Amino acid sequence: MASATSRKWLTWRVAVFLAALAPLVFWSWQVANNAAGPEPGRYLLLNIGIGGLWLLLLTLSLTPLTKLTRWKGFALIRRQLGLWTLAYATLHLLSYALFILGLNWALLGSEIVKRPYIIVGMIALTGLAVLGATSNKWSMRRLGKRWKSLHKFSYAILGLVLLHFFWVVRADMSEWALYAAIGALLMATRLPPVSRTLPKLRYRLSRS
Ligand code: HEM
Repeated sequence: MASATSRKWLTWRVAVFLAALAPLVFWSWQVANNAAGPEPGRYLLLNIGIGGLWLLLLTLSLTPLTKLTRWKGFALIRRQLGLWTLAYATLHLLSYALFILGLNWALLGSEIVKRPYIIVGMIALTGLAVLGATSNKWSMRRLGKRWKSLHKFSYAILGLVLLHFFWVVRADMSEWALYAAIGALLMATRLPPVSRTLPKLRYRLSRS
């Protein structure tokens, strides 16, 4: 019985892993088959950036979803999705370095002056790297209560990513506004009065 349960969770984790990997395989396939438009490098950069934002929002939705449903599966993939967010953000930086800078780091200074949102992206990526590096059991034990406080910075990182994206968008803000609304909703679920309501909501839903 115990092994059937652990097999179930392993299957769930592997399914999440494959689902997170699939967009990267698809975009690479598009580039390899000349189906990524006139600027394949930019195609990768932008899609991977959006993918990273999606993953960050998904990661942050897992705690409220756990409170709302009590389903263990959400909590089980939190670390994995957090690390995927970091992986996408790193690949986004690599695409920038490779396809936009052409690995010419001397250009970085003038690029930052021209596009200050790059600094915001870099701070967000650094934050993600710190959270990724401390997302293991050893760091949890060592940091104790401070671990939770540290990981609350994920919301500040979301704010930075949204600012980075806001700065990039020039004309149509509707896509940005949608992500910002989802982000605001997720942040609202962390406010103590809302957070306390979620388990009660589950109770009410289960009785109706
Ligand atoms: C070292 C850090 C980063 C650098 C250098 C960087 C660079 C860039 C650049 C050059 C663009 C495209 C601007 C254009 O349209 O020309 C961009 C867009 C974007 N980036 Fe970043 N970024 C960084 C970090 C991040 C992180 C951590 C995330 C999210 C996890 C992110 C998400 C996005 C998103 C969502 C867009 C907009 C995509 C679109 O317009 O479709 N970036 N970034």
